[in-house]
Amino acid sequence: MHPALIVIFTTLGMFLFIWLVLSRIIRKIHPTPISHRLAIFLDNPVRRHVFSPAKVLDKMGIAAGMSVLELGPGPGFFTVESAQRVYSSEGVGKLYCLDIEPAMISRVKKKIFNKSPENVELMVGNGECLPYKNGSFDLAYMVTVLGEIPDKTRALQELYRVIRPDGVLSISEYLPDPDYPLRRTTIAWARRAGFEPFEEFGNFFAYVINFRRSHIEIR
Ligand SMILES: C[S@@+](CC[C@H](N)C(=O)[O-])C[C@H]1O[C@@H](n2cnc3c(N)ncnc32)[C@H](O)[C@@H]1O
Repeated sequence: MHPALIVIFTTLGMFLFIWLVLSRIIRKIHPTPISHRLAIFLDNPVRRHVFSPAKVLDKMGIAAGMSVLELGPGPGFFTVESAQRVYSSEGVGKLYCLDIEPAMISRVKKKIFNKSPENVELMVGNGECLPYKNGSFDLAYMVTVLGEIPDKTRALQELYRVIRPDGVLSISEYLPDPDYPLRRTTIAWARRAGFEPFEEFGNFFAYVINFRRSHIEIR
């Protein structure tokens, strides 16, 4: 490899390492939801290229006619594509987005205006106490959200309640996120709430894990 490239990659690696160490320390001291002012880090062309909504949503198995919950949509990086995918001409497919930050929900509202079909319901709320009935969703997903939620078990139990017994919970994480949990940590959290992984994609830097209930009740 050309020496200049070695210098560039080493410098980038060092910056990434310093960013990860410092940001994780800051998040431990100050564990609040990400400010909407930092939305540029979540919705930008670089992320679109390396972590494209289409590729991530493909792995979740999202499809027309589904009732889907996007918990923690942030500025709506995945929302337009999700809404288009669940849309069905019979009008049954619907996307529900819930975020604790009102300013993030306002951003999603602006983003979907004129871009997505009218099948999106936006709400401000806390993932630890979901305002939906039992068994409301075929699929619920979170992308780089779980690490920000203080009571992860409570949030996952709530998701267990609102997902249909045969439905899917999909959790995605990627490494530049300061709250990034290791794959085995995510699986351990989900197991505690009664989920079991059945599909895993990606690598150490970015992954998608799909879960189902560990026991499907037979009536
Ligand atoms: C890192 S951002 C990810 C946004 C989006 N999923 C993405 O990948 O672009 C995390 C989002 O989760 C939201 N969030 C954090 N804690 C939450 C909670 N307890 N309930 C609902 N949303 C929460 C934050 O407000 C923020 O919008």
